[in-house]
Amino acid sequence: MALIHKLRGLLGLGRAVLVGLSEEAAGDDPLALFSRWFDDAAATGMQLPEAVTLATATAAGRPSARLVLLKSFDERGFVFYTNYESRKAVELEANPVAALVFHWSALQRQLRIEGSVSRISEEESRRYFSSRPRGSRIGAWASKQSAAVEKRDDLDRVFREYERRFAGKNIPLPPFWGGYRLSPDLIEFWQGRANRLHDRLCYRRSGEGWTRTRLSP
Ligand SMILES: Cc1cc2nc3c(=O)[nH]c(=O)nc-3n(C[C@H](O)[C@H](O)[C@H](O)COP(=O)(O)O)c2cc1C
Repeated sequence: MALIHKLRGLLGLGRAVLVGLSEEAAGDDPLALFSRWFDDAAATGMQLPEAVTLATATAAGRPSARLVLLKSFDERGFVFYTNYESRKAVELEANPVAALVFHWSALQRQLRIEGSVSRISEEESRRYFSSRPRGSRIGAWASKQSAAVEKRDDLDRVFREYERRFAGKNIPLPPFWGGYRLSPDLIEFWQGRANRLHDRLCYRRSGEGWTRTRLSP
């Protein structure tokens, strides 16, 4: 990491821990606050500030979690992309609720988001898919995500088959691949403070707006 990023990270950490998270600074709109925290995380120069743990559960309530990359967010929610036949997708189709957890250690910040999940439009998925590097697009066709693979060679062979199939051609969006949007009904901001007296502000959707509650650390 470049020295300037290290310095920025240290300064950011000091400020975040010292100043904390007051109701006044947090405001009434958790999405605006999310946007500021996301920018703060990116500004530290940390790797993959958009990496987020996604927890899903089966219809019977058995949870599972893994990392995904947050690719966009706005007032409608938080978008990530995946294989629609993967384990997470099977769970989401049966039980369309999920939780996200970010940890930005350089700022001693955790962010929890919960809500309902639905597929984004095919057009939106296509737009994002076509922006990906060619190798990633071929990889999406070649991977039956979460299915058993007998040997590594099989994966490489299928990748080469798709490379030949799409040689010199545009690579279309696979019908089994696309985005999900988590529409939040709860967002909790956690700011590490001295003596374990951390700041926790939890926003719950209520009607058109949000109610904000401070929680004990
Ligand atoms: C940093 C990081 C980012 C990842 N991003 C994604 C992603 O955006 N989409 C995805 O499907 N898998 C992503 N993965 C892989 C998932 O963690 C997981 O292995 C895969 O999606 C299969 O999960 P599942 O079997 O629970 O469906 C990422 C892994 C890491 C370590």
